[in-house]
Amino acid sequence: MSEVRAYSVKRNRILQSGIFNETLRGWQSSKCDVTAKNLMYPVFITENDDDEQDVPSMPGVKRYGVDKLRGHLEPLVRDGLLAILVFGVVDNLPKNESGDGADRPDNPVVRALPKLRRWFPDLTVACDVCLCPYTSHGHCAILHRDGTIDNDASVERIAQIALAYAKAGAHIVAPSDMMDGRVGAIKQTLVDHKLGNVVSVLSYSCKFASAFYGPFREAAKSSPAFGDRKRYQLPPDAAGIALRAAARDVAEGADMLMVKPIMAYADVLKQVKDQYPEYPVFVYQVSGEFAMIYNAARDGIFRLQDGLMEILRGYRRAGADVIITYYAPQILDWIRPKHKL
Ligand code: PBG
Ligand code: ZN
Repeated sequence: MSEVRAYSVKRNRILQSGIFNETLRGWQSSKCDVTAKNLMYPVFITENDDDEQDVPSMPGVKRYGVDKLRGHLEPLVRDGLLAILVFGVVDNLPKNESGDGADRPDNPVVRALPKLRRWFPDLTVACDVCLCPYTSHGHCAILHRDGTIDNDASVERIAQIALAYAKAGAHIVAPSDMMDGRVGAIKQTLVDHKLGNVVSVLSYSCKFASAFYGPFREAAKSSPAFGDRKRYQLPPDAAGIALRAAARDVAEGADMLMVKPIMAYADVLKQVKDQYPEYPVFVYQVSGEFAMIYNAARDGIFRLQDGLMEILRGYRRAGADVIITYYAPQILDWIRPKHKL
């Protein structure tokens, strides 16, 4: 040992990296790999079961009726897809103040869940739980007459909707509304109905009021009719509030946590994962991030696969366990073992 040190001091050399081939480099980064286990795929389900509609701001993303969705998912499940996140989109169901369409028996998500469970027994199905696609005003809450949030009524309603999706077959309910106390209310409701240990709660715990949700609101037809969501989504500068929100959801019994969007919030991800290493932390690469990367690749800034995988590996490096991304189909194709004939 002392001989070695004397040698390098004498020759005034810095230590050199001994990491010189692909295998050796791979050993440095096993926690950054993106495998099927690390992906969740968001899908939009329409009322008409045979629908297949383009979303103009999200090239390649479609809204599907459940029968069309089956054909879309089949090859992906064959390629290893393990989990989806379901959003309902409605045109005909009436929208009202309390979002009654969210859990009616003819809601597209309520109708799709039993079919998805039957067709894809090994697929884990998560449901976004929110009011905004179903309220007349497009907000994620029930409002008082003066337009302020009725927190108690909102939380009670969100828990009812979560219960309806759980009964219809959701493995995971994922509240994205950001009302105070909704995780505890959902957990309690599930336990009261003997579903506490067969349905998991994925909280959108650190969801920021972001400029990156625009294409989604077009896709889900869920734009607020007035105002914005700054009263209930987190202020982008406030890492402290984000950590408090995560702590609150942990205290209320959340099974899994989320940071959303992710591109501008990797520091929050790292802090949440460092604080709660025992919790799976999800990140949501949202619609605006999807479109930005798509447009960059289209304009020749990078090859889609190179740019996207570098970004996603960064999220894994910062602590993400699962990445929710509209690119899941492409990624599964890229990472699929390619057998030589
Ligand atoms: C609705 C909801 C939104 C997203 C997921 N659930 C939009 C919003 O809060 O305005 C965003 C997803 C995306 O942009 O891809 N509660
Ligand atoms: Zn909402």
